[in-house]
Amino acid sequence: MTARRTDAPAASAARAAQLRSLLHEHAHRYYVLDSPTLPDAEYDRLFQELQAIEAAHPELLSADSPTQRIIGKVLDGFTPVRHAVPMLSIRTETDTESSGALAFDARVRRELELGESDAPLEYMAELKFDGLAINLRYEAGVLVQAATRGDGETGEDVTQNIRTIDQIPLRLRGLSPPVLEVRGEVYIRRDDFEALNRRQRELIAQGEKNEKTYINPRNTAAGAVRQLDPAIAARRPLSFFAYGLGEVQGWEVPAAHSLLLDAMVQMALPVCAEREVVVGADGLVGFHRRIGAKRDHLPFDIDGVVYKVNSRALQQRLGFVSREPRWAVAHKYPAQEQMTLVREIEVQVGRTGKLTPVAKLEPVFVGGTTVSNATLHNEDETRRKDVRVGDTVIVRRAGDVIPEVVAVVLERRPADVGTAFDLSQKLNGRCPVCGSAIAREDGEVDWRCTGGLFCAAQRKQALLHFAGRRAMDIEGLGDKLVEQLVDAGLVQTLPSLYKLDLEQLTALDRMGEKSAANLLAALAAKRSTTFARFLYALGIRHVGESTAKDLAGHFGSLDRFMNAPLEQLLRVPDVGPVIAQSIRTFFDQPHNRDVIEQLRAVGLHWPEHEPVQATASPMSGKTFVLTGSLPALSRDQAKDLIEAAGGRVTASVSKKTDFVIAGAQAGSKLEKAQALGVEVLDEDGLRKLLAAAAAAAAAAPSA
Ligand code: IVH
Repeated sequence: MTARRTDAPAASAARAAQLRSLLHEHAHRYYVLDSPTLPDAEYDRLFQELQAIEAAHPELLSADSPTQRIIGKVLDGFTPVRHAVPMLSIRTETDTESSGALAFDARVRRELELGESDAPLEYMAELKFDGLAINLRYEAGVLVQAATRGDGETGEDVTQNIRTIDQIPLRLRGLSPPVLEVRGEVYIRRDDFEALNRRQRELIAQGEKNEKTYINPRNTAAGAVRQLDPAIAARRPLSFFAYGLGEVQGWEVPAAHSLLLDAMVQMALPVCAEREVVVGADGLVGFHRRIGAKRDHLPFDIDGVVYKVNSRALQQRLGFVSREPRWAVAHKYPAQEQMTLVREIEVQVGRTGKLTPVAKLEPVFVGGTTVSNATLHNEDETRRKDVRVGDTVIVRRAGDVIPEVVAVVLERRPADVGTAFDLSQKLNGRCPVCGSAIAREDGEVDWRCTGGLFCAAQRKQALLHFAGRRAMDIEGLGDKLVEQLVDAGLVQTLPSLYKLDLEQLTALDRMGEKSAANLLAALAAKRSTTFARFLYALGIRHVGESTAKDLAGHFGSLDRFMNAPLEQLLRVPDVGPVIAQSIRTFFDQPHNRDVIEQLRAVGLHWPEHEPVQATASPMSGKTFVLTGSLPALSRDQAKDLIEAAGGRVTASVSKKTDFVIAGAQAGSKLEKAQALGVEVLDEDGLRKLLAAAAAAAAAAPSA
């Protein structure tokens, strides 16, 4: 810290300095090294202690304090920054084959007048990050300014936004020369980008009209850095890698680029670990190949690798030509975004019945493979991007993420382009795999196939769920076996599971006689089950284990349940309109009913009983409102008792309210009940009702 007049007691000043250094160290371990050694709560405690000291002694505040990673004010525009040392670009080798590397080595050797007998050159091989170049200016070790590249001579002051990036140290560790400018790339990791877009899709699904999905990490990073509102920049998940220097005063730059990068690591700057010192043209080719093979598995996008002559002395001898260093080159990989034509939009059915629109493309080479399908995610997204058959679109395939259509190139839209996408219309309301009805629930973005048991696309998922421990509990029928059974064509639908024989099973991979016999025994034994288990095993959307138990208890028989109209379903405690509709839709599919009949035909059975009469329990399905204070029961106790007896407690009185339970000081709710003619009871009345409900429950056969 620079010397300055200070009124703070020496002890506070010393403690503040100590806290700052501790916090810097732990932030570095957390954000850069990704290996924290301090619990988050302890970090927060130290942080708050420093904040308190700084609040009490504002003269102790310094620009490099971790408390100063605060969000600044909205700007009218950016101030231009003239770079002390111009920010140059590098020559790009567009030949993506290894010949590109050979050509660079040959050129450098020629410039240095090296002959064939001279030793091979040493190079630093790095990744070419696909983001935005930034100059970080540290004075006396403290970050004082961050600027974009601009035209190379003059950039823009984006200090406020850059300060929100936790990976960028506000103070260099271990050195504080008068000037040290660090250059590097601001970028967004792929997982951060995907998460950002997932969140955006959710916001859009919730009706946020002004939100959009982002096209790619590069544009998103560039947009965030150039945001006038630093609060918005702070919400973008930006990362940073250092790779070079700008102006330097008072520090001896290491003699090799590799040593510079090592020194930067010591300064607490994030430097990509994926870097190597290689020797000669062969070394370059090897690096290009290795990284090429890894490219998809890297956590961020790269568009190539960069080779730099390692020795600084040789760099100086080589110098520059037309604003590009002769000692460096960017060697590209095939692009991860391409334009192509949409031939058709089809709809795919996922394992869970989710329907996804997919663009069928004029095949195009993207990110190293030929792509002819790209996801459009869902109907809303397709409409928002307004992707139509006949459109030219930008397709992105990066990493392990499935190829997606990121945008339409509207300038290329032909006059005879297709109409806006409408999923249900496109499918005539039917699942393209099994023909069952499709449905989209309120508040959901996805359409789904309702033929859960019957639909071939959902077969594996349905089987696994059916056999699960909490469903039919068929031991030995796990995901590997289900996979094999379906892929071998042995099991098409649930009932065929019960027709398997020993011979078929032992013919499968890794299936011994004993395991096969065990599975058959388990299948036979579990033909006898409970109604609740069977009902849960059907995998009806929204019908979990406990709802299945309620339904089984309430209806007592499968036939009564399958044929129950919505009103009857709604009478079951905890069954609301969404669940009731989902059950109705399921049984309205003749295919699902067929499967159930076949399951009964192969011998699945369970005890059934008479229905629990709605009249038998005077409270089930009834709505109660509590008001005023009851003499003996607390409000919570009363609520628990009502709910345990099958009633529902709501907050306000309406025509649908069945009973108002009123105690002392009952107010407007009581008046409203009287006005609407709703039955009003006191605590005694409630107790009588509870007793009647208990008697009815005792008389009814149990689930
Ligand atoms: S060195 C004088 N190293 O590529 C050399 N640049 O045209 C200065 N880039 O926009 C650049 N990764 O932001 C260098 N490992 C790397 C790089 C890299 C990406 C970008 C840089 C600039 C462009 C160079």
